[in-house]
Amino acid sequence: REKLPQYNTVDDALQLLSTRRRIMVLSGAGISVSCGIPDFRSKDGIYSTLQSEGKYELDDPQDMFDKQYFLSNPSMFYSFAHRIFPSNFVPSSAHRFIKLLEDRGQLLRNYSQNIDTLEQIAGIEKVLQCHGSFASASCTDPSCGYTCKGSGIAADIFAQRVPKCPRCEQRKVDEAKKPSKKKRKLGNGKSWRPTDDSDEDETDETQLPGFGILKPDITFFGEKLEDKFDHALLADREHVDLLIVMGTSLKVAPVSEILGHIPHSTPVILINKTPVLHLATDIMLLGDCDRIVQYLCRKLGWHLPSVQPSQD
Ligand code: OAD
Repeated sequence: REKLPQYNTVDDALQLLSTRRRIMVLSGAGISVSCGIPDFRSKDGIYSTLQSEGKYELDDPQDMFDKQYFLSNPSMFYSFAHRIFPSNFVPSSAHRFIKLLEDRGQLLRNYSQNIDTLEQIAGIEKVLQCHGSFASASCTDPSCGYTCKGSGIAADIFAQRVPKCPRCEQRKVDEAKKPSKKKRKLGNGKSWRPTDDSDEDETDETQLPGFGILKPDITFFGEKLEDKFDHALLADREHVDLLIVMGTSLKVAPVSEILGHIPHSTPVILINKTPVLHLATDIMLLGDCDRIVQYLCRKLGWHLPSVQPSQD
């Protein structure tokens, strides 16, 4: 991807911001750091903290968000989740800047990799949470289909308890009541780990401790992004006239590949603390994203919107 020689400076960024009407914002954990939520890959980010604490048995700190690890040992995730569960966090200037673009009719869509739901709190409507979020939770047994609001598992998260699926629990009770029937055979997607016959269940997911419990609707490694990601990208790629990449190391696919899907002529502005070397950027604004967007707004005569009180 070649850089466009006509866009280089802060003045170019200001000019693009004041004229473009279909701006795609690709955001990541960096925009929530000032809200008190660490990012993942900075030196004081979640992954290095997990590594240095050594408190969890993880080969790779990223395994904290790995589906297979979760199913094998859900209590590990739930002993940690309270540290990132959104509670009382207030959106940053960077979130409010995205909301401002939306209010001005300039936001095509915010592709967020964040799971903290701060976009909703900031009132951004055109947001796609590419990696899901804590806003809801679902049963890990696909045949169960139970879902609830994220607030429904908040008490468990803060108590560092694994949240049980009420429907699966009820089913267990009902099954136990059935007088003479033998326990269902393993592998039918609806059975639970029996206490005695563990030799039968080597790789059967339905026998793992994390099967049939509630998991926040966050996309873990090993899970596919929701179809709406592909649909949105397909719809947006023809229309985008400016891409702003903000607060992300852009290391996780498929979000990191978005740039490959949009026209080469689309200018790209990076607003980030550190350079993203594999990203072909036209204008790189390096530093704290809140200070940068505040500066841009001052120059443009724009005012960041205040955050409305939460509905929940
Ligand atoms: P990373 O932690 O990989 O990157 C955060 C980026 O934000 C880094 O480049 C930082 O330099 C930058 N940054 C930090 N503080 C900043 C600030 N105040 N102002 C501007 N920039 C700042 O986070 P993501 O790229 O979002 O996946 O990570 C992508 C995905 O990897 C996450 O969604 C998560 C993770 O594994 C899941 O949870 C599934």
